[in-house]
Amino acid sequence: MANNYIDILKENNQEHLLKYLDMANENQREELIDDILNLDFKTIKELYSISSRDNDKAIESCIIEHTKFVDKYKIAKDEFDKYKNIGEEIIKNGEYAVVTMAGGQGTRLGHDGPKGTYILNVKPKPKSLFEILADGIKRANSKYGISLNWYIMTSTENNDRTVEFFEENNFFGLSKDKVRFFKQGNLPLVSEDGKLLMDKNFHIKYAADGNGCIYKSMKKAGILDDMKSKNIKWIFIGSVDNALLNMVDPILLGITVFEGNKIGSKSVVKRSPEEPVGVFCKKNNKPAVIEYTELPTEMAKETDEDGELLFGESHIMCNLYSIEALEKISENTLPYHSAHKKAPYLDESGKMVKVTKPNAYKYEAFIFDGFVFFDDISILRGRREEDFAPVKNAEGQDSPQTATELYNNYWENNENGRM
Ligand code: UTP
Repeated sequence: MANNYIDILKENNQEHLLKYLDMANENQREELIDDILNLDFKTIKELYSISSRDNDKAIESCIIEHTKFVDKYKIAKDEFDKYKNIGEEIIKNGEYAVVTMAGGQGTRLGHDGPKGTYILNVKPKPKSLFEILADGIKRANSKYGISLNWYIMTSTENNDRTVEFFEENNFFGLSKDKVRFFKQGNLPLVSEDGKLLMDKNFHIKYAADGNGCIYKSMKKAGILDDMKSKNIKWIFIGSVDNALLNMVDPILLGITVFEGNKIGSKSVVKRSPEEPVGVFCKKNNKPAVIEYTELPTEMAKETDEDGELLFGESHIMCNLYSIEALEKISENTLPYHSAHKKAPYLDESGKMVKVTKPNAYKYEAFIFDGFVFFDDISILRGRREEDFAPVKNAEGQDSPQTATELYNNYWENNENGRM
């Protein structure tokens, strides 16, 4: 046993960790050995092998087609009412729940703490992103006479601080037993030459495994069972960083049910062919989102007879699923994508190194890769000024400043609530 970890490290080309084991104190050493013995080196090797693959090439072998959508503001009155009634009935029956993906690292924003704790300077008083989401739940609760179940996905890194923040804020006035947290998984980061990186306190450096791992994490944490025990049939999953996210839209729900689909999603029109967002398409005849990095320039610019972009429906992390759909996806494995990231690490002299350029690969599953398990999806086109105020970057576009402006504009004109 004592030499076991040494053999494992040698076999897997990770002997550099032995130097750290020599430097660590007894507790750190024990923890590190334990971690090494539990690591899945086969998966790490497989992941590293995708790091250098050219994503652009993979798309060339697929058939990419435009996909249909319905514009929420072009629906005829009687149809609109029909969708509304279908959606509202499910919501009023208590068969609807919401989930927030709050496990991201928010590296672009650079906020010290979970992204949901970031305070936007909105009117009439500053609010955290979590409070803005909680407001939406409170509005739905009073409008429909319900008490929505809210599930929040955190990461190992930010779970404790997130839970504390809710406690400190008295769950924003929501009933505590209606809010449930669950953690997503982790994957190790590797250097450009495939070596595991060391973090402070002689821990192997891990990062959250991407928002696409939500399906497996929900199953593993018993969230899907909990939902079934509560007779929840439809689940909205959204991001933590959209100050205009509408988590309870009966039209999205109604149209998805009416069209007989198991999944639905809200889109907004892409600002320009160059905007860096993923767009909906059909990929090999299945619903999909194609990343802006993968969409060839000519296709990004293609328009229909009305001059609208053919690939213009942006995926804004506003997704709806039946419980069966979530179960189905959670039983499948989604592919991992690699991202070249800046990752501070402990060097072999025991000092933390700050990095100025990307030095490591991080592996993430993407939520939209779960759409492929279905033949179709209902896409409802919303409006940017009503549905999408992302907080991604510290400054410039999609920053706290632009999100605050969008939020203030929307709520100044919609004091009586939203559809
Ligand atoms: P992004 O992909 O924009 O990532 O997340 P991010 O972590 O917030 O920001 P950057 O890229 O590091 O700057 C979109 C949504 O998915 C969630 C985020 O919390 C956000 O709500 N997410 C992302 C997770 O829950 N887990 C992850 O592993 C990644």
